[in-house]
Amino acid sequence: MNIAIVGSGYVGLVTGVCLAHIGHKVVCVDVDREKIRKLRLGKVPIYEPGLEELLKKYLKNKKLSFTWAIKEAAKKSDAIFIAVGTPSKKNGDADLTYVENVAREIALSMDSYKLIIEKSTVPAETGKRIARTIRMNLPKNKKSIPDFDVASNPEFLREGSAIKDFMNPDRVVIGVESKKAERILREIYKPLKPHMVVTNINSAELIKHASNSFLATKISFINAIAQICDHLGADVLKVAEGMGFDKRIGRSFLDAGIGYGGSCFPKDVDAFVRLSEKSGYNFKLLNEVRSVNEEQKAFFVRLIEDKLWIVKNKVIGVLGLAFKPNTDDMRNAPSLDIIKMLQHEGAKIKAYDPVSMENAKKMMKKITYSKDPYALAKGCDCLLLLTEWDEFKHLDFKKLGKVMSQPILFDGRNMYRKQDFEKLGFEYYGIGRGMV
Ligand SMILES: NC(=O)c1ccc[n+]([C@@H]2O[C@H](COP(=O)([O-])OP(=O)(O)OC[C@H]3O[C@@H](n4cnc5c(N)ncnc54)[C@H](O)[C@@H]3O)[C@@H](O)[C@H]2O)c1
Repeated sequence: MNIAIVGSGYVGLVTGVCLAHIGHKVVCVDVDREKIRKLRLGKVPIYEPGLEELLKKYLKNKKLSFTWAIKEAAKKSDAIFIAVGTPSKKNGDADLTYVENVAREIALSMDSYKLIIEKSTVPAETGKRIARTIRMNLPKNKKSIPDFDVASNPEFLREGSAIKDFMNPDRVVIGVESKKAERILREIYKPLKPHMVVTNINSAELIKHASNSFLATKISFINAIAQICDHLGADVLKVAEGMGFDKRIGRSFLDAGIGYGGSCFPKDVDAFVRLSEKSGYNFKLLNEVRSVNEEQKAFFVRLIEDKLWIVKNKVIGVLGLAFKPNTDDMRNAPSLDIIKMLQHEGAKIKAYDPVSMENAKKMMKKITYSKDPYALAKGCDCLLLLTEWDEFKHLDFKKLGKVMSQPILFDGRNMYRKQDFEKLGFEYYGIGRGMV
């Protein structure tokens, strides 16, 4: 099938490359011309394991191409995915400006049937609004109005394992209002043999928001448990293990830490709270999920303040900046808030991350970046583990401890075992490990 993907960011690019991989002819579109120039040369502007190899392969055999000319791309395609950003407005609503722009551009290019598929995360009713925008912007001089359908196909991939997630989805959700749209979407995904959930557009849009909000709830729930564990001398890792074996609960997303971040959960929970408000329901549960998440970062900073005693002029070394491992994405990373709070108290921050330092430099000031964890540790009064990169699992902490001013580790991701650090002469603090 000839497919266009509009928006070639984390989701659009992965979707484009993977659809080429399963046999479609794909053109990816973006307004960022610099990005398109790089992609045409086979260079991936983001860090996503495995993406560059596949990109090069399908560029070479011409299954995949890149352009900034949306109209031409749309004209040549049977199905058009919209995968542009939907950031938060100040009031928490999803800003759908980019989605509207794309819908208008597609309308102007329509000369035959098109299926327009929302892949961006959007609030319920967006499908209807896209359809209305297209109808209102169809070329006026056409004798007959081209037929089209709008469908919803929310994306559930995770940055860092995006290709694997796309190629092996737990389910593919499609929201459709016509048999033709359903048939085309089934055809697109057929090579993956996925479990398909077929519903109407509003339900599909809601599935995405409800899923992300539920996962955020699980994280805040275990973070609340972690607070209690600290005070009762219980270990949240064991509590999560004990809970997780229950099939009704499951172990995933029960990792206590410094709270969720990233480009999706914070904005999607905000947008869902606003959507609920507008539909007449006060989603108090999600308000609590948000405040537990904010409090978790403040709690971590209070723990550091308590154990360091005086934070002013102390040198703090941060291991990991990205919001999670295997990505360079710094959007809403908890490290941003934690570092800001510590700087406010007068701490001097050094940092190291395997791939996100270039992005971090654009967002944070007054940080000394180090070339590796050993250079980072030199002269530090403590280390903070903020992203659980594999690379950090195998550090030589004996060596690190020797070059630090005082060997203290705050493990914001519960990646290590306290007893291992005690042997090395480190003071170790995790989250919810019964230590406060
Ligand atoms: N990042 C994730 O892990 C993830 C997962 C699932 C769903 N989503 C959702 O997918 C959507 C995209 O997220 P992302 O992380 O890929 O965003 P992104 O910011 O990485 O990419 C968006 C791209 O769209 C481009 N764009 C904006 N306006 C355009 C236009 N008019 N025409 C063509 N291109 C345009 C931008 O230049 C950018 O390259 C969001 O709604 C997000 O919530 C993201």
